[in-house]
Amino acid sequence: MRQEIEEQKEYIKKVAEENKGKNLKYCILTMGCQLNENDSEKISGMAEQMGYTRTENFEDANLAIINTCCVRENAEERLFGKVGELKNLKEKNNMIISIGGCMMQEKQMVEKIKKSYHYIDIVFGTHTLHKLPEDIYEVLNGRKRIQDIIDIDGKVFEGLPISRANNVQASITIMYGCDNFCSYCIVPYVRGRERSRKPKDIIKEAKQVAQQGYKEIMLLGQNVNSYLRSEMEEIKQGKLKDEDGDYAQINSFAKLLRAINEIDGIERIRFVSPHPKDFTDDVIEAIRDCDKVCKFIHLPLQSGSTRMLKIMNRKYTKEQYLQLVEKMKKEIPGVKFSTDIIVGFAGETEADFEDTLDVVKKVKYEQAFMFIYSRRTGTPGDKMENQIPENIKHERFNRLKTLVESQIAKNNKSYINTIQKVLVEGPSKGDSSMLTGRTEYNKVIVFNGQESMINKIVDVKIVEDHMWYFKGEII
Ligand code: 5AD
Ligand code: SF4
Repeated sequence: MRQEIEEQKEYIKKVAEENKGKNLKYCILTMGCQLNENDSEKISGMAEQMGYTRTENFEDANLAIINTCCVRENAEERLFGKVGELKNLKEKNNMIISIGGCMMQEKQMVEKIKKSYHYIDIVFGTHTLHKLPEDIYEVLNGRKRIQDIIDIDGKVFEGLPISRANNVQASITIMYGCDNFCSYCIVPYVRGRERSRKPKDIIKEAKQVAQQGYKEIMLLGQNVNSYLRSEMEEIKQGKLKDEDGDYAQINSFAKLLRAINEIDGIERIRFVSPHPKDFTDDVIEAIRDCDKVCKFIHLPLQSGSTRMLKIMNRKYTKEQYLQLVEKMKKEIPGVKFSTDIIVGFAGETEADFEDTLDVVKKVKYEQAFMFIYSRRTGTPGDKMENQIPENIKHERFNRLKTLVESQIAKNNKSYINTIQKVLVEGPSKGDSSMLTGRTEYNKVIVFNGQESMINKIVDVKIVEDHMWYFKGEII
């Protein structure tokens, strides 16, 4: 594995040599989740070492990269819209067009591109991202239309360069893939089986970002609280030997949290996404004990109906979910929650949907990401016969949104006149004379402050509430 990365580093050097003095630019569009964002940071790291500088405009780019998502259908329309625009730009800048990510692990998508989009130079998958330097080298040297996709599970690659998009929060992927096969979800098919990075590599990266001045770490994985689960299972079965003692100290997510909590310079630790079924007591205790771990937990609900949860293959009931929330509220002072909810999955009745509303009323989320169910080819959900008509899905979605937003608006009022600790990110996008930052509970606060406060945690008094941000005053 190390050798494969070393090979790519050679290609990076070769491409950089060819690109020397040409003032070339790259532009990257990232769709989907934070794991994709983190992959794009690695793609950017490679592109920059190959001599491309970043531009936010495809018009100016010599290398165009689209990192795709396929979790919901609307990403496809967006992708092909964008790809159409790139066709016109290609001639002008002699542009290399490269498309990668989750959607490229879907056979029908690759077929579509092969048939109808001849001007796309490189197609890469989720397991071959690290080979982009080689692919670009080949294109620069005359090879036409590279398709670099493998179906087998990817390995864990270490040592890729990275160009981080956020200068306050550093994302660190701790595990890849997913073994859960929720029946609506395409992720296990396009991201492969669960595999975790070694603790020492994660700790090394965490220490590095702390040294670079990052204050917040976001740990990423499809299912973070099963970190090292399959590796521990393999060790137990004798399939994996821990010859180097890699897992002697840290062998679980809870222990990883505790170890990162010890790193000097880091002030906040967050993680997404945990799975409710794997939320063991040791993780709850670690969140409670670690002062840097934000007491703000993303706990995907998906549905509040036990019947739907079973069809969704989520492996918990409505009651178990609510009990977990209660347990955490008891154990972790000040804990608050955000969630993901799907409406209109196959077979969802009005009574099922009302169970979802009931859980929302009970938990009172700080934030909820709501999705209309989107059929994904190849998943069990797509084959189910009792699909819900679009108008009912939308009607339920709107009811849920109204409930969530009314709860959030009410909750927002309770922040008025409180003092919040805000990690300052930089000038506000809407008004550059103001600063913006986030609280432990991920609330966006806009306030007047000095530039010297950027990348520090400051006390801000909340004076005005809006649905998605607050105005504050420095105290
Ligand atoms: N349709 C709608 N939403 C989905 N999600 C995953 N698959 C689908 C789908 N087919 C949502 C889930 C998940 C989030 C990342 O996306 O709520 O937690
Ligand atoms: Fe998809 Fe379920 Fe895995 Fe999350 S846990 S990525 S929803 S299959």
